[in-house]
Amino acid sequence: MREQLLALEKRAIEELEGVKDPARIEEIRIAYLGKKGRLTAIMRKLGELPPDKRPEMGKLANRVKENLARRLKEAKEAATLGRTEPVQYLDVTLPGREPLRGHLHPITIVIKEICRIFSAMGFRVVKGPNVELDYYNFEALNIPKDHPARDMQDTFYISENVVLRTHTSPIQVRVMETQKPPVSVIAPGKVYRRDSDVSHTPMFHQVEGLLVDRGVSFGDLKGTLTSFVHQMFGRDTTLRFRPSFFPFTEPSAEVDIRCVICKGRGCRTCSQTGWLEILGSGMVDPAVYGFVDYDPEIYSGFAFGMGVERIAMLKYGINDIQLFFKNHMRFLRQF
Ligand code: PHE
Repeated sequence: MREQLLALEKRAIEELEGVKDPARIEEIRIAYLGKKGRLTAIMRKLGELPPDKRPEMGKLANRVKENLARRLKEAKEAATLGRTEPVQYLDVTLPGREPLRGHLHPITIVIKEICRIFSAMGFRVVKGPNVELDYYNFEALNIPKDHPARDMQDTFYISENVVLRTHTSPIQVRVMETQKPPVSVIAPGKVYRRDSDVSHTPMFHQVEGLLVDRGVSFGDLKGTLTSFVHQMFGRDTTLRFRPSFFPFTEPSAEVDIRCVICKGRGCRTCSQTGWLEILGSGMVDPAVYGFVDYDPEIYSGFAFGMGVERIAMLKYGINDIQLFFKNHMRFLRQF
């Protein structure tokens, strides 16, 4: 057995000599040290030896096994080291991977744009509470107790005298209450109404505007809003002032723009009219001045209010208001 073991060791070392292919080295390992390998076969026979020979032969077999295992391992390391794998080259001309960056929500983008346009015209940005007193949301805006806007259908009531504001107009009253003319403010914010379909959500955004001074006329209202529309939708956008009614303005007008989808020919978005309503406006009703102690003989002014989602839908060609609040990444990434 001794001779067998030594001869096997010698042969294995010879076979391994100069081999550089890792696969071939592995084959040699299996041929000698594998479960059915030659050394393994010899070692199985140790049990057949007379008991006094077993320790010596066992020791020798183990030494051969360890020697071969070490040489195989070293040969494998030498073979893999310094090898160039063809798939692992580095293409230095590839563009780098850009890190993902967050950005503003489309509604925020539009609010900022509206505020930027009016700030440039001298309007100051102000805020008001979302949970509002009935007095500011309705009463002081000349909305009498029996007005349809007070119907439980439209308003979220917190208690008898407290509501979630249904528009940003209460901010007008809060500003005039604390400040004497001249005032010119713009007030963006969330508003709430009990309504939900493709063009309504229970919470949406408005931007309110108010300007009061001596000698302010309807011409000032028209000029200011025309300038705004041209900056927001482009100089070639046609607009019209259509007579309307609000309890807190007199006279009142809604502003329509030529349909941005069909350019006035008539389509589904504009219900075949060729026009799209974008805001409500008017000269502040003298009845409102009574609540804030302004003298309507000295001062006059105009107010307007616009829906931010509606403007964003027209600007970006979006046909479902709910998309703004679902927060799907595929929608938001486009802005
Ligand atoms: N608050 C009105 C609305 O929500 C809009 C408006 C504001 C109209 C200011 C006139 C003046 O519909």
